[in-house]
Amino acid sequence: MAFFSHQVCRGFSSSAVRNVVIKHVTIIGSGQMGAGIAQVAASTGHSVTLVDTSDDILKKSVKGIEGSLRRVVKKKFADKPEAGEEFIQKVLQNVSTSTDAGSVVQGSDLVLEAIVENLKIKQDIFGQLDKVAPQHTIFASNTSSLPISDIASSTSRLDRFGGLHFFNPVPMMKLVEVIGTSATSQETFDSLLNFSKVLGKTPVSCKDTPGFIVNRLLVPYIMEAVRLHERGHGSKEDIDIAMKLGAGYPMGPLELADFVGLDTAKFIIDGWSAMDPSNPLFAPSELLNKKVAEGKLGRKTGEGFYKYKILCVQ
Ligand code: CAA
Ligand code: NAD
Repeated sequence: MAFFSHQVCRGFSSSAVRNVVIKHVTIIGSGQMGAGIAQVAASTGHSVTLVDTSDDILKKSVKGIEGSLRRVVKKKFADKPEAGEEFIQKVLQNVSTSTDAGSVVQGSDLVLEAIVENLKIKQDIFGQLDKVAPQHTIFASNTSSLPISDIASSTSRLDRFGGLHFFNPVPMMKLVEVIGTSATSQETFDSLLNFSKVLGKTPVSCKDTPGFIVNRLLVPYIMEAVRLHERGHGSKEDIDIAMKLGAGYPMGPLELADFVGLDTAKFIIDGWSAMDPSNPLFAPSELLNKKVAEGKLGRKTGEGFYKYKILCVQ
């Protein structure tokens, strides 16, 4: 149970830098979350470099950002379509792309990672970037479930490392969880808090505990719904309707699982189950495992619990 009893006392390392005003952001991973964060950061005047493994993926992400911006603009500039178009072009000009993270972090105040939910892969990328990023640059992870201190351990900038946990879809969801480890300096924490506010989000301060606040409550709820369905105790439609109409949720839990990504849901629950196998809330699901093995990852692949006509980037 040591995993659940982290004592968090924010450190003030001697190598701590002063509050960093974040202007240039490098975002590693341009999937649902990375693209959404890039959109919001670029919309609020930040210069953003989006990094992924191929130009094709990056092209698709930028197209997704443009599509999402059009939805925003339709409401925000309802009476001024020309001003709306101008806004879209201005935002897109703030976004550049690269497949080489090492070469673009040089000018970055913040490197924010939103790649696959895998500790080793996250550690590897941060370990490499730690060697080339400037001294003042803050590193942050958008992880859903992994301890920030474990991810940070591959770097030498423990005081300049924190968590910034955004919610999907990023342009719509107002919350950001800001996570400090015992080694995160107060200056770094304040910079991340301030950055969240400048993005127009409401930050909450979280301890470095599994799932922080939201996912510690939300993921067991989603998994209970999956297991309930798996036991044959409710059709997916009935479960989703029940929670929307009976509990006022905007999406039912199985719709939400598809929205989050079934691969991400599986990574989270497998990780927690491995660390605390006796906790029934963290029990894996054969049905979820089967869907992921079949490549049915939810909205992003066109099928999960439900089928989707449009492949959405976010
Ligand atoms: N970009 C821009 N605008 C968007 C958008 C997007 N991606 N998605 C929705 N909108 C806006 C648009 O203005 C849209 O109108 P149009 O369709 O005319 O463009 C308007 O919102 C309404 O959208 P919808 O009609 O599609 O449906 P909705 O009213 O249900 O809102 C929703 C969509 C905001 C996603 C809502 O269903 C919702 O809040 N769902 C729950 C999402 C949630 O719980 N997210 C957290 C997931 S967990 C997580 O993120 C953490 C983790 O680590 C796993
Ligand atoms: P996603 O699958 O949509 O996107 C991940 C992206 O990372 C892909 O485009 C992939 O090509 C890219 N990638 C993988 N390895 C890379 C590397 N080494 N370098 C550069 N790019 C790489 O995933 P997502 O839903 O955006 O989730 C990303 C992270 O955000 C995960 O840690 C997840 O737990 C977390 N998160 C997800 C949600 C959600 O609702 N989906 C919400 C909050 C946080």
